[in-house]
Order: sequence, then C-alpha cells, then structure tokens
Amino acid sequence: MRKCPALMIFLASSLLLVLQTLEVVNAVGCAGSFFNANSSYVQNRDSLFSTLADKVIANSGFYNASLGKSPNRVHVLVLCARGYDQQACMNCVESATKGIQSNCLNRMDSFTWDKDVEDHVSCLVRSSNHSTLGNLELRPAIIYPSPLSIESSKNMTLFEQEWDAMVNRTVETATEAQNSSVVLKYYGAERAEFTEFPNVYMLMQCTPDITSQDCKSCLRECVALWKTQFWGRQGGEVNRPSCFFRWDPYAFHGAFDNVTRVPAPPRPPIPENGSPITTVKKGRSIGYRGIIVIIAVLTFINLLVFIGFIKLYARRRRSNYRTHLGSAEYSDSDGQFMLRFDLGMISMATDDFSTENKLGQGGFGTVHKGTLPNGQEIAVKRLTKGSGQGDTEFKNEVSLLTRLQHRNLVKLLGFCSEADEEILVYELVPNSSLDHFIFDEDKRSLLTWDVRFRIIEGIARGLLYLHEDSQLKIIHRDLKASNILLDAEMNPKVADFGTARLFDTDETRAETRRIAGTRGYMAPEYLNHGQISAKSDVYSFGVMLLEMISGERNNSFEGEGLAAYAWKRWVEGKPEVIIDPLLVEDPINEIIKLIQIGLLCVQENAAKRPTMSLVIVWFGSETITIPLPNAPAFTGSHFQSENDSMSVSNIFTELSSR
Ligand SMILES: *[C@@H]1O[C@H](CO)[C@@H](O)[C@H](O)[C@H]1NC(C)=O
Ligand SMILES: *[C@@H]1O[C@H](CO)[C@@H](O)[C@H](O)[C@H]1NC(C)=O
Ligand SMILES: *[C@@H]1O[C@H](CO)[C@@H](O)[C@H](O)[C@H]1NC(C)=O
Ligand SMILES: *[C@@H]1O[C@H](CO)[C@@H](O)[C@H](O)[C@H]1NC(C)=O
Ligand SMILES: *[C@@H]1O[C@H](CO)[C@@H](O)[C@H](O)[C@H]1NC(C)=O
Ligand SMILES: *[C@@H]1O[C@H](CO)[C@@H](O)[C@H](O)[C@H]1NC(C)=O
Ligand SMILES: *[C@@H]1O[C@H](CO)[C@@H](O)[C@H](O)[C@H]1NC(C)=O
Repeated sequence: MRKCPALMIFLASSLLLVLQTLEVVNAVGCAGSFFNANSSYVQNRDSLFSTLADKVIANSGFYNASLGKSPNRVHVLVLCARGYDQQACMNCVESATKGIQSNCLNRMDSFTWDKDVEDHVSCLVRSSNHSTLGNLELRPAIIYPSPLSIESSKNMTLFEQEWDAMVNRTVETATEAQNSSVVLKYYGAERAEFTEFPNVYMLMQCTPDITSQDCKSCLRECVALWKTQFWGRQGGEVNRPSCFFRWDPYAFHGAFDNVTRVPAPPRPPIPENGSPITTVKKGRSIGYRGIIVIIAVLTFINLLVFIGFIKLYARRRRSNYRTHLGSAEYSDSDGQFMLRFDLGMISMATDDFSTENKLGQGGFGTVHKGTLPNGQEIAVKRLTKGSGQGDTEFKNEVSLLTRLQHRNLVKLLGFCSEADEEILVYELVPNSSLDHFIFDEDKRSLLTWDVRFRIIEGIARGLLYLHEDSQLKIIHRDLKASNILLDAEMNPKVADFGTARLFDTDETRAETRRIAGTRGYMAPEYLNHGQISAKSDVYSFGVMLLEMISGERNNSFEGEGLAAYAWKRWVEGKPEVIIDPLLVEDPINEIIKLIQIGLLCVQENAAKRPTMSLVIVWFGSETITIPLPNAPAFTGSHFQSENDSMSVSNIFTELSSR
C-alpha cells in the first residue's frame, strides 16, 4: 500500500469518527459475537460464575479462571476493591454475575463494575471467549454521569484546576509501586476539600494483571472521556474492562473510611455575595447507575476533516479503509453494541436520502439503502414524523430492540434521533423480500419445496423467538411476505418486528385503537376489535404459509381470500388443488400436512389456533397427530392492495367512530 500522509489522517480520523459514534447503553458492557444461547459456552460461563464469589475471597480479592474446550472456552476474571469486606465482596460478585447473565443475553464478551447493595465495596466481573489476562482492555467504555450539574455560581476555572490536581494525585497513588505481596496492586482513593466544595471523593482502580503504565493510560482515558463528555456534572463514573474511575461529592463504596482529607488550597478572596456552599447528601444520586447513558460524540473538527478527506479518497481507497477497520482495533466494537448514528453520517451513507437509494415505503416510514464509511451496507428506516414518542422513550425502546438477536430476525444495528428525525438502522439483507420471489412468475421456480419449507420454518422460529423466547414478548402485528427478507442463502429474516412496539408501548393491553397491519393478513379479532395477541400473529403466519404453498397472493382469490378457498377445498377432500403447480413433483403428504397446519393457524377462534412452538413441533414430527382444523375466519369480502396498511388504519378509524 502506498503510504501517503493525507490518507493516514483520513484513516485515523475516520476510525475515530466511527468509534466515537459508538454509544453504549447497557449498564453492563457486552461485546463480541453471539453464540447459541443453549450452547455449552453459556453452561461453562454459568458454571464458572457460580463459584466466583468463593474463589475471589479464597484468592485475596483477585481471581482468574478458564473452563471448557475451544470454541466454547470461557475465561473469567474477577476482583474486589482493596480493603474489601468479605461478605460485601461476595454479594457484589453475585450481583455482577447476575447482571451479566441477564443483560449480555448471548454475548461472548462482557464486563461490569458493580457494587454490593449496601455500597461497601466495588467489584469487577469480566468474561470472554479469549484470554484477556495481561492485556490492557479499553473498550467498551461506559459512563454513568450524575444527573445533577455543578451550580453555575461556582467558579469552574478554579474547580477544574483543583479537580485536575486531584486526578493527578489519585492516578499516582493508584499506580505507585507496591510490595509484591499486595494482590490488589492498583488502587487509589482520595478525599479532598476544594475551595468551593467541602468534600470531593475520587476512586481509581485497575485490574492487577496489567502493567502500571497500562493502568495509568487506562485511567487517563477515563478522565479524558469524562472531561469531553460530562464535564460540569456533579459526579459520575467511567468504567472500562481494565479500569474504574469514579468521583462524587459524597463518600461511596465505603472506600474513604481510612482516607484523610486533603485540605483545600488557600482561598482566593471571595466576593461578598458569593453563594453558600451546598452540601450534597449521600444518596442523592442513588439510581443514576441505572440510568441509561449515552456516550455519543462527534467532534465537529473530526467531521470536517473526515468529510474533507472522504471526498478526496473515498472511492479510490474504500477497500483499504475497510481492511483497516476490520483490524483488531475495531473488532471489539464491531457493530455489536448499541450504536447511535449521527444524522450527518446517515445522510452521507444514503446520499441525503436520495430517491435512487430508496428501497421501499411502508406505514411507518420510508426505507433507504446506505453504505457506512466502513463499507457496511445498511437499510435505513426513516420513521414518519409525529409518533408522539419522547426522545428518551425512543432511545430506551431501541436499546431494548437491539438486544433481540436471532438468526431469523433482521438485525437492528442502531438508531439516530436528532433534530426531529427518528431513524432506525438495520443490517441490509441482500435478496430483497419474499414477495419478490414467491409472487414472481420466474423467480418462484427458484423456490423448490425444500427451500420453501426452510423459509417457512425459519419464519416460525423467528416468530417463536419474538413471542416466547425473547425477554420482550413482541407481537409483530404486520407479518406478511413483504416483511420477510431473504439473505444470500435464502434464509428468511423477519423484518419490522420492532416498529409496532415503538409506536405502542402499552403492548400488553388487549386492545389497541391503532390498527397497523395489512388487511388480508390480519386476524378477524384484530381487524374488527383491535385485539392483539400472539395468536393474531399466528393467523398472519397461517396466511403466509398458505401463500407459500399456493404461490398465489392471498388477495388473488377474489372475494374470498386464500384461507376460505383452501378451507373449502379441504372440506371437499381435495386440499391438493391449492398447491402451486410447480410443486407437483414434491412430497404431497408433507405439503398437505402443512396445508392442515396453515388452516389451523387461520381458524376463526383465536384460542384454537396453535402457538408458534406447537407449530414448530408439528413441522418436525412425523408421528404426532395434528388436530383437524375448524372453519377459518372470513375476513371480509374484498381485499386491498398489499402495501395499504395506512388506509387500513383509516378504515378502522371510520369503523370505530361510528
Ligand atoms: C437445550 O439443550 C437441551 C439439552 O441439550 C435440550 O433439552 C433443550 O431442548 C435445548 N433447548 C433449546 C431451546 O434448544
Ligand atoms: C490465572 O489463572 C491461571 C490458571 O488458573 C493461574 O496459573 C494464574 O496464576 C492466574 N493469574 C493470576 C494473575 O491470578
Ligand atoms: C480501614 O482500616 C481498618 C483498620 O485498620 C481496616 O480493617 C480496613 O480494611 C480499612 N479499610 C479500607 C477501605 O482500607
Ligand atoms: C472468540 O469469538 C470470536 C467471534 O466469534 C472469534 O472470532 C474468535 O476466534 C474467538 N476466540 C477464540 C479464542 O475462540
Ligand atoms: C475563578 O478562579 C480563577 C482562578 O483562581 C480566577 O482567576 C478567576 O478570577 C475566578 N473567576 C471568578 C468569576 O471569580
Ligand atoms: C496533571 O498531569 C498531567 C500529565 O501528567 C499534566 O500535564 C498536568 O499539568 C497535571 N495537572 C495538574 C493540575 O497538576
Ligand atoms: C512485603 O509485605 C510482607 C507482608 O506484609 C512483609 O513481610 C515484607 O517485609 C514486605 N516487603 C517489603 C519489601 O516491604
């Protein structure tokens, strides 16, 4: 590769840009690739976790261990802060392991700096599929700022000088050479009096496996991040896998019992009407740990430099750049975190939402194709304005949705919420949607029975995950062939699963006034009474299943609908009539079994429809007796065009206002 300084600047600033666009929202840092939640990796991790509390005590406060065979080998590292109380340390470690088990659902890598409930001690639990012992691990960083700002009456210039000096002293204490018998080598706790604050408390720790120089760099990075992100807030913390930094105007983690207060420097003359010093009571900031925190930075200069160079080099150098981002520097943030995307970057990626890049339009907004500077292709969904959702709610919601990870769901990479734009960023699934295949005269022939069955089963698994296995229990509400995307290997991925939830947080309510679905796929109780449940999705699934068998759109059966048509042929004893002529060579009995399952899914009585887990059992079993279906719902005498979800909701409004 030809070296060129401008290119190097471009690469460096681009990398920075991408890294800074990163936003970590979990209280627990999760990273790395996903693994099958049932794999032995989890078992190994859980079994290591179950012994950590005892082991860390037995090993003077720091312990590392590994278990299992590659690729399911798990490495863990755990420590309690110097001077820990045994019981508090054990409680802390238990709380931390639980946090990881519930927050990092199925991530390979994780870490959390936790504390025990009574706030006596802090501890770290970290796990990974590779040994991180001895390595300086900086990413991801997690910030917890106090929601309170320092009063504007304080002299911030003075405060900054005193704070910087305190940082320097604490870094020195934390990294000073220790007697080699000291296990918890890196620890600094300081309490100081500032001119305008009676007490400021600061704690710094590193894992003892790294060098003192690495510890220093790690702590400096925490401080630098704090200063660029939340300078002006009255306390907070920055966590990294290798180190911990916290400061507050009150004592915390029982860390300051034996610490003498560093007196304030001599006071400069204070004006007569200087504001009284407020004391912050302990406990005032309780709960800010739980606040979902945003680290999102995009320095303007960075952007300018970046844009400047991208114009010059982007085309010629894209492949070099991609290689660069693919390197280890980027791997720990390889799109696995919750990403907050900058609006500028989205505009650039989609060529300012140009019409050439438009992929489609649905009830909730338009979808555009885009390419990130690192070469990754994305699908950008620009939500229709006026969802009435607050910014914070939107972010919280998206952060929940990004945790849903399943082979048969389109992956939500992140979001952008800026100006009055609300944007969701998804992975781009290359093969467009199922309707482009199954309803296309030519392409349909590519869908052999094996392929169709795999698609149907994949959709069922994706739905099962949404309904039962994910922690959120999501009802899709707009399941149809055009919402099933196909990847390069024709694996189905359910799309748009979060949108309904985004707009209706009161998901558990049995009824909703807002009908957002596509007529013909909508269960009668949903269409007529707005009742949603997993069973209304099962109905839509049944319609889709029959479409896959017949190769015809539900609405091509004029005046009747596919479900009713298939039911009549079933009653006549001629179910095979609906089978796509292209499938005549295929196992007829298996196809008829699927027609039967499809008809069970579209039964009028929602209670009689099977659950998705039962459907999957039926798919896989040769021997189980499948019940006979009852009459399906006749959802109306005419069907609208498929992409008509908005007009359906209008129709419903009309119906319901009568
Ligand atoms: C997980 O594995 C166990 C035993 O290997 C099996 O019984 C269980 O059904 C599996 N669960 C899932 C969800 O695959
Ligand atoms: C980490 O674990 C290995 C194997 O259990 C052990 O030999 C090593 O001493 C441990 N290292 C530290 C720093 O505790
Ligand atoms: C404080 O001092 C007491 C008595 O010397 C000791 O037991 C305790 O561990 C110390 N606490 C800390 C946090 O160092
Ligand atoms: C850890 O997982 C990542 C992602 O799956 C993989 O690339 C890496 O090789 C794994 N490391 C080990 C040591 O198995
Ligand atoms: C703030 O403190 C600095 C440093 O002591 C001093 O130079 C400056 O005049 C002070 N500003 C105010 C508004 O008091
Ligand atoms: C703190 O340390 C840094 C780097 O070692 C130094 O540049 C800075 O001047 C120091 N600040 C204070 C207030 O001592
Ligand atoms: C290190 O600590 C041990 C035990 O506390 C003590 O016996 C030893 O003398 C100390 N060594 C030094 C060099 O201070």
